[in-house]
Formats: sequence, structure tokens, C-alpha cells
Amino acid sequence: MSSYRLRPFSHWLLALFLTFTAVGQLAAQDAASVSKEGVTPGAAPAGAAAAAAGTAAPAGDAAAIAAGDALFKGNCAQCHAVNDVVVGPALAGIDKRRPMPWIIKWVKNSSKVVASGDEYAVKIFNEYQKQQMPSFALSDAEITSIVAYVKSAEGAPVAAKDPAGTAVDTSEGKGVSDAAGAGKYMNAVLIVLVVVLIVLVVTLVIIANIMKDVLRGRKDLDGRDVEILEQKTDWAAILKSGWLRGVVGVLFVLVILYESIQGLMAVGLSQGYQPAQPIAFSHKLHAGEHQINCAYCHTSVYKSKSANIPSANICMNCHSQIKTTSPEIKKIYRAIQRQQPIQWVRIHNLPDLAYFNHSQHTQVGGIQCQTCHGPIEKMDVVYQYSALTMGWCINCHRETPLNTKGNGYYDNLVKLHNDANAGAPFTVSSNGGTECSKCHY
Ligand code: HEC
Ligand code: HEC
Ligand code: HEC
Ligand code: HEC
Ligand code: HEC
Ligand code: HEC
Repeated sequence: MSSYRLRPFSHWLLALFLTFTAVGQLAAQDAASVSKEGVTPGAAPAGAAAAAAGTAAPAGDAAAIAAGDALFKGNCAQCHAVNDVVVGPALAGIDKRRPMPWIIKWVKNSSKVVASGDEYAVKIFNEYQKQQMPSFALSDAEITSIVAYVKSAEGAPVAAKDPAGTAVDTSEGKGVSDAAGAGKYMNAVLIVLVVVLIVLVVTLVIIANIMKDVLRGRKDLDGRDVEILEQKTDWAAILKSGWLRGVVGVLFVLVILYESIQGLMAVGLSQGYQPAQPIAFSHKLHAGEHQINCAYCHTSVYKSKSANIPSANICMNCHSQIKTTSPEIKKIYRAIQRQQPIQWVRIHNLPDLAYFNHSQHTQVGGIQCQTCHGPIEKMDVVYQYSALTMGWCINCHRETPLNTKGNGYYDNLVKLHNDANAGAPFTVSSNGGTECSKCHY
């Protein structure tokens, strides 16, 4: 009888534990999904982003704002931010400064407006060192939607500056902090749940012990009851068992073998290498958010063997105007004053015995940078994405068909190849791309 009373207790304990772990898991998943939605830049539909930025846009305008957001990012964001001066002025409040027809005329052809002698236009043109804003072949409706987007985004607080002077893109910054808020809330709930759980478990263990003591004091227990009451795990016997020792031994040997093979395979490899750079230059910011073309900085990547690293002068094309007071940008100024190049740390480096040519792959082969370098436009700090082993080069040469369209050099070769091996794809290797001398001097 009494043994029966003990059991529901342990069952209850188990049930309680499972419930709480399940609740905890759910809460954790929620928190994770909330922060994901908030943080992923650009992944959320533009309308949602505007909503996250705390704007009270009427539902009818949401589509126009979303369209305006996309147009703004595609055409204007290189030079304008809503709440911050970039190359051009901050656009917040533009609909109050200027009438809509003026804005439309200006965006379509700003130099015409300046040339017409429009007082405001001339003033702002001079204020911005007579930089000409490009003309845009946008429709009136498209320009109106950009202004609608600007209006929707100007509610956000003006660029939050961190101590280093980095301006955070406001609309996105808000989204992140919202998500962080939600995450914090979830964390608090989780912590409370865990504390409650611990308190419950401790109470139950205490109660169980008290019950055991009470039972021990009783004289009317039968053999089975006593057995259950005095149950103990015999650790010593388990530790001594040959079975356990065998399993641990085999696992140990396997782990050592695996690790040493991995170690040997990785000798001379630097995949994942991500050194700190002398200036906190971010590809995510430049190539990602501001969509600056790779070849704007790596000027020779389509033309020659090597993709050059830009000189400080290229940075100054923009940074003579943008963020001139940021401590990181000051480092560019210092390099120029001292007439010393910025000492970037080289990341990718093939041994001298191998020949690799960028223009052959990018211009002739039409291969995207990201195929070899990974999602550079998402990296704050660049790392080596591919292994850069000989096997890596050769595998791709075996699998990749030559980009022969519109390339007269290949016309005859394609014909010869098709005559000789009808149907087989004309890959780099079938053109001799796996011959040793192609890559080794
Ligand atoms: C290459 C840089 C550049 C791009 C791209 C650009 N602008 Fe400009 N914008 C400027 C500059 C610089 C000025 C300041 C006036 C001047 O120097 O001509 C300006 C001024 C303006 C003004 C007047 C601002 C004010 O406060 O009065 C408006 C409006 C404007 N731009 C809208 C746009 C829109 C909309 C787009 C996208 C379709 C765009 N700009 C794209 C550089 C740019
Ligand atoms: C505004 C200028 C600029 C733009 C635009 C730019 N880069 Fe860079 N890139 C740099 C600078 C500066 C470095 C050296 C510092 C570093 O590694 O971050 C660099 C380094 C690299 C490296 C590593 C070089 C090494 O040391 O091995 C790769 C790869 C690279 N860029 C690829 C790209 C690709 C792909 C794009 C376009 C999606 C791009 N870059 C756009 C300026 C730029
Ligand atoms: C085509 C224009 C352009 C070029 C070229 C360019 N940048 Fe930038 N850079 C920007 C813009 C736009 C920002 C963002 C400014 C903001 O957040 O308000 C920026 C931001 C930065 C920042 C962050 C500054 C801070 O404190 O927030 C650094 C560092 C930087 N750039 C370094 C460089 C370096 C180094 C080069 C040359 C290899 C370079 N940039 C070339 C446009 C450019
Ligand atoms: C087929 C693969 C491949 C593609 C495509 C490719 N790269 Fe590279 N990249 C490499 C390799 C391999 C190296 C190392 C070269 C070396 O050490 O000689 C490298 C090195 C670099 C470097 C360091 C400087 C140098 O030349 O060694 C930069 C910068 C760079 N790549 C930028 C780019 C950009 C920008 C693109 C796209 C326009 C691009 N790469 C496309 C494979 C590639
Ligand atoms: C992502 C696929 C890819 C990778 C990775 C790659 N290649 Fe290539 N490679 C190509 C393609 C495609 C061509 C042919 C371009 C063309 O001529 O149309 C090519 C052509 C070449 C050629 C010229 C071959 C000839 O027949 O003239 C050389 C040399 C070469 N690659 C070297 C390398 C080296 C070295 C590496 C590794 C560091 C490498 N490639 C990695 C795709 C790749
Ligand atoms: C598509 C280009 C390519 C072809 C074709 C190629 N190799 Fe390589 N090979 C490389 C690259 C790149 C490396 C450097 C890999 C590394 O650093 O891990 C390399 C490395 C080597 C090494 C190692 C050198 C060392 O010091 O570690 C040897 C040996 C070698 N190759 C021999 C050959 C032979 C023999 C052939 C012809 C059967 C050949 N390779 C064909 C690209 C190629």
C-alpha cells in the first residue's frame, strides 16, 4: 500500500519537469524567431520594416511606402539617408521644404533646375560643393512614393550615435532594438520559469525525503516496500563494468583518430582566416547596404590577374564628404598626410607555385565573386570563405561548362568538341583546364 503512495509522487515530479522544459523550449523558440525577424536586414518586406520603425501609416499608403523604400534603396541610398547627411542632404522634411512638383522636377533633372536659376536649388547646390545629383528616369508616381517612404521613415529618432561615432541606420536600428526588447522580455520570462522550476524540484525532493523518513519509521512495511524505499544506484559497480570501459576506450581512440586526421588535412589551409584590419572597414556597409560595386574599389578585378586593394584616394572620393569626423575615417586622413599606404592585412594568398587569374574567371568565365569569396556583402570583417586547395580549383573546372556565348575565341573549339563528343558538356577541364601547366609555372 505505502509503496503505491510513493509512486504517484515521482510520476508527478517527472510530469512537472517535462511540462516546464516544454514551456521553456517554446519560449526560447519564440524569442529566437522574434529576434530573427527583427534583425535580418532587408529580409522583412519593406512595409513590415516601416511598421517596425513605429510609423502610423494608413493601410492604403503601405504599398506606396514599400515601393518607395525599394526605389530609395535602389537609387538614392548611396547618397542620401532620411535623417542623416550623407553625400546629399538628409531628406527628412523634404515635403515641407519644397512643393511636390519641385521635388519631381529636381529628381528628374536637378541640373536643369539649378540652371533655371531657381533660388533654393542654387543655394543647396552651392552648399553641397556644387556636386551634381544624377538625373533619374523615374515616373511622377515613383517619386511621390519615395517621398511617402521618406515621410514614413522620418519619425524614427535621428541617427543613434555610439561612442565611436558610428551612425546606425535609423530605421533598421529601431527594428533591432525592438527585437532586442522582445528578446529581453522573453529572457525574463525564461529566467522566472527556471527559478520556479528549481524551487518546485527542491520542495518536492524535500517532501519526498520527509515521506521516506516517515515510512522508515513505520513497522508494517512488507519486503517490496522496503526494497523500493532503500533503492540506491550502485555507481561503483557501473564504473567497474568491462562493458563501460570498452565503450569509453573505443570512443576515445575514434576521437583521437578523427582529430589527428582533420589536423593533418588542414595543414597549410587557411579557410576561415579572418584577421583584424587596421581600419574597421565593413563590406556589409559599403558593398551591402550602400551597394557600391565591387569593381569601384577592386578596379582591376575584371581586367587583370589580380584584384587590387583600393588606395586611400579611392576612399577619399567619398570620405572627403562623408563621416569626416569619425575616428576610423581619421585614420584614412592620417595615412594620406603621412603619405603611407594603409596596411591592410592580406587574407587570400595562394602559394607562388600556383597561377590564378581574376579576369579569366570574372570577365571571361562570368563567375560571380560570391562563388569563390562567399557572401562578402554581408561580412563586416572579410574572411577566407573557400579552401583554396588544388582540389577546389580542379573540382570546379571539372563541373563548370565554359562560358562560350558571344566569345568568338571559342566558336571553333565548341564545334570541334561537339563533333568529337556529341552531347558531353564543354567544361573547363575538357578544354584542358586540369592540365598541370595551366596552373603551375
Ligand atoms: C550621387 C549622389 C546622389 C544620388 C544618387 C541622389 N542624390 Fe539627391 N542630392 C545629391 C546632392 C549632392 C544634393 C545636394 C544638391 C546638389 O549638390 O545638387 C542632393 C539633393 C537632393 C534633394 C534636395 C534636398 C533638400 O534638402 O532640399 C532632393 C529632394 C533629392 N536630392 C532627392 C533625391 C532622390 C529622390 C534620389 C533618388 C531617386 C536622389 N536624390 C539621389 C546627391 C544625390
Ligand atoms: C569601398 C571599397 C570597397 C568595395 C565597394 C568592395 N571592397 Fe573588397 N576590399 C576593400 C578593402 C579596403 C579591402 C581590404 C580590407 C579588408 O580586407 O577588409 C578589401 C578586401 C577584400 C577581399 C579580401 C582581400 C584579401 O586580402 O585577400 C575580398 C575577397 C574582397 N574585398 C571582395 C570584395 C567583393 C566581392 C566586393 C563586392 C561585393 C567588394 N570587395 C567590394 C574595399 C572594397
Ligand atoms: C562610394 C562612396 C564610398 C567609398 C568609395 C568609401 N566609402 Fe566608406 N562609407 C561610405 C558611406 C555612405 C558610409 C556610411 C556613412 C554613414 O553611416 O552615415 C561609409 C562608412 C565608412 C566607415 C564607417 C565610419 C563610421 O565611423 O561610421 C568606415 C570606417 C569607412 N566607410 C571606411 C572606408 C574606407 C577605408 C574606404 C576606402 C577603402 C571607404 N570607406 C570608401 C561611402 C564610401
Ligand atoms: C574562381 C574564383 C574567384 C572568383 C570568381 C573571384 N575571386 Fe578573388 N580571389 C580568388 C583567389 C584564388 C584569390 C587569391 C589569389 C592569389 O593569392 O594569388 C583571390 C584574391 C582576391 C583578392 C585579394 C587580392 C588578390 O588579387 O590577390 C581580392 C581583393 C579579390 N579576390 C576580389 C574579388 C572580386 C571583387 C571578385 C569579383 C569581381 C573576385 N575576387 C572573384 C578567387 C576568386
Ligand atoms: C567556381 C569555379 C572555379 C574555380 C573555383 C576555379 N576556377 Fe579556374 N576557371 C573556371 C572557369 C569557368 C574557367 C574558364 C573561363 C573561360 O575561359 O571561359 C577557368 C579557367 C581557368 C584557367 C585557364 C584555363 C585555360 O584553359 O586556359 C586557369 C589557369 C584557372 N582557371 C586556374 C584556376 C585556379 C588556380 C583555381 C584555384 C585557385 C581556379 N582556377 C578555381 C572556373 C573556376
Ligand atoms: C586548376 C589549377 C591546378 C591544376 C590544373 C593543377 N594544380 Fe597543382 N595546385 C594548384 C593550387 C592552387 C595549389 C596550391 C594549393 C594549396 O596551397 O593548398 C596546387 C598545389 C600543388 C602541389 C603541392 C605543392 C606544395 O608545395 O604543397 C603539387 C605537388 C601540385 N599542385 C601538382 C600538380 C600536378 C602534378 C598537376 C597536374 C596533374 C597539377 N598540380 C594541376 C592548382 C592546380
